[in-house]
Amino acid sequence: MNNNLQQSVIAITGAGSGIGQCLALECAKKGAHVAICDINFEAVQLTADKLQARYPHCQVNVQQLDVADRAAVIKWAETVGSHFGEINVIINNAGVALSASVENMQIDDFEWLMKINFWGVVYGCQAFLPYLKKSSWGHVVNVSSLFGLISMPNNSAYNAAKFAVRGFTESLRIELMMSDKRIGVSCVHPGGIKTNIVNFSREGGELIGSAARMSTVERKQNFNEKMAKTTPEQAAKIIVNGIIKKRPRILVGSDAKMLDILQRFLPVKYQNVVARIFR
Ligand SMILES: NC(=O)c1ccc[n+]([C@@H]2O[C@H](COP(=O)([O-])OP(=O)(O)OC[C@H]3O[C@@H](n4cnc5c(N)ncnc54)[C@H](O)[C@@H]3O)[C@@H](O)[C@H]2O)c1
Repeated sequence: MNNNLQQSVIAITGAGSGIGQCLALECAKKGAHVAICDINFEAVQLTADKLQARYPHCQVNVQQLDVADRAAVIKWAETVGSHFGEINVIINNAGVALSASVENMQIDDFEWLMKINFWGVVYGCQAFLPYLKKSSWGHVVNVSSLFGLISMPNNSAYNAAKFAVRGFTESLRIELMMSDKRIGVSCVHPGGIKTNIVNFSREGGELIGSAARMSTVERKQNFNEKMAKTTPEQAAKIIVNGIIKKRPRILVGSDAKMLDILQRFLPVKYQNVVARIFR
């Protein structure tokens, strides 16, 4: 049976921008109530305003939250649980990007990214699982990336976090298949999506290959204009549909689908192809 989002309660991290904001709107469109958070309070409040203007039936709970703060994530789950009574879906979406070669990367930048992109997901799962288990049904959604399936130069920290999210999520899914079949799990792998991620990304030290020959502005423009083919609205539709259908792996965009196939047929040799393209 499919998940029915009508009157369900869905918690979403990083809902102040991009995929997270569009997920909140798409969930409300399907009749869900939402608890949304972001480190940027003004941004997430704007999402709440949009939700209330477009979907007056939707109950919205807004919170400023840093997903890298474990105690705060646990407190948020408690607040959402007591506000709505039941929580059906947690979408661990908040994320950041970092461009840096392994050799030149600042360890502080690497730790900053891991705290958000990996530990934020772990904290979200552990904090919300008890509430999902107490509810009539539940679903965990962790946002990894196409870069959780294949690696790219100057993205080692992001790759490490997103591969880790995938491993962690697949293990959690197996555990829940063995212990509580009412809770589904999806790992999401978006390709390039037109959001603020690259505009807000950190850069640490000199890069490797063709990226080193571009200015920061050119690199960001290249991502936004050439590599990010899918809109966040389209991404949110695909993800919500995947949640309804309880899909374990949700690939978002034709680039994610194509490169997933490349990686299956050339699990090691794809690296030679990538090196040739980005040399
Ligand atoms: N845009 C892409 O091409 C792409 C591709 C693959 C995966 N993703 C993943 O999708 C997710 C959403 O990214 P997006 O593209 O919508 O980016 P975005 O920058 O538009 O949105 C990310 C949101 O997360 C919030 N955030 C950042 N740090 C946070 C923290 N510590 N605590 C709480 N919130 C925090 C930001 O304020 C922002 O509102 C991320 O996990 C990202 O890695 C994006």
